[in-house]
Amino acid sequence: MKISIIGAGNVGSTLAERVLTYKLADVVLLDIIEDLARAKALDLSDASPLMGYEKRVLGTSDYKETCDSKVVIITAGFPRRKGMSRDDLIHKNGEIMRIVLKNIKTFSPDAILIVVTNPLDVMTYLAYKEIGGDRRKILGMAGNLDTARFKALLSQELGVSFEKIETLVLGSHGDTMVPLVSKTLINEKPLGSMLNRERIEDIVERTKKRGGEIVALLKSGSAYFSPSAACFEILKAIINDAKKTIPCSLVLKGEYGISDCAISVPAKIGKDGAEEILEWELPENELSALRNSAKAAKEMFDKCKKQID
Ligand code: LAC
Repeated sequence: MKISIIGAGNVGSTLAERVLTYKLADVVLLDIIEDLARAKALDLSDASPLMGYEKRVLGTSDYKETCDSKVVIITAGFPRRKGMSRDDLIHKNGEIMRIVLKNIKTFSPDAILIVVTNPLDVMTYLAYKEIGGDRRKILGMAGNLDTARFKALLSQELGVSFEKIETLVLGSHGDTMVPLVSKTLINEKPLGSMLNRERIEDIVERTKKRGGEIVALLKSGSAYFSPSAACFEILKAIINDAKKTIPCSLVLKGEYGISDCAISVPAKIGKDGAEEILEWELPENELSALRNSAKAAKEMFDKCKKQID
């Protein structure tokens, strides 16, 4: 089994390392800067005897090498810099995505795609528009990352293992994301019974701003350990046909009363991608927040189309 990672930057190369460490698949690491992809692949393959990698890794700038990949992960594009929102990237990254998607369509038309490039929901929907076909095979990784961040912050605040926390963050990967407070359980007890509204609000806000907080500290570039881990979990569920519930950015056609955009919703992830979108009963405030998040994603997609057409 072969997977391809487009973009050999921090997210792409960290993901490649995880895939090799867990012996999931052979990896093609592609970057338009061929030397970068080759260097990182050589470095990773030198680690094989130390880490016991059994799978192979190849660095290239030639899309032919990616042919017939089972999964293609798209990390290519510019990261945010301090003071930028994810949406400031739509023009440049939209153009990059178009080139990447054209090549994927040529060389791995049946691949499942995982989109990491920002603004993530816009790029996920763009992938669907450009590639067409089965929407279940186009997944954006962000709901899983935002959920991990919410969980990590709750775990620190409450001093509870994240394993005892059940929660999901849905919606668009940005300020309108929707941490499902109503569905959050700590040791099977509702979050509302453990923290007051103000403290919950504070954690929700910190979750929304976590990516930006990291960008501000790094100054150039954005987070990569947790984004690559969020991506890795989705990839693993596909390769192992795990049928695991993971929130991913998916193209919606009426689910939650939302259409014509991609935002994160819970789905069962297995060998065919997002095999089933789960429509949960949500209280009115969370449902309307989700629809509001979809509206923001749609507006951003229209803006992106105007800029790249
Ligand atoms: C973040 C970037 C990956 O949230 O969007 O860190």
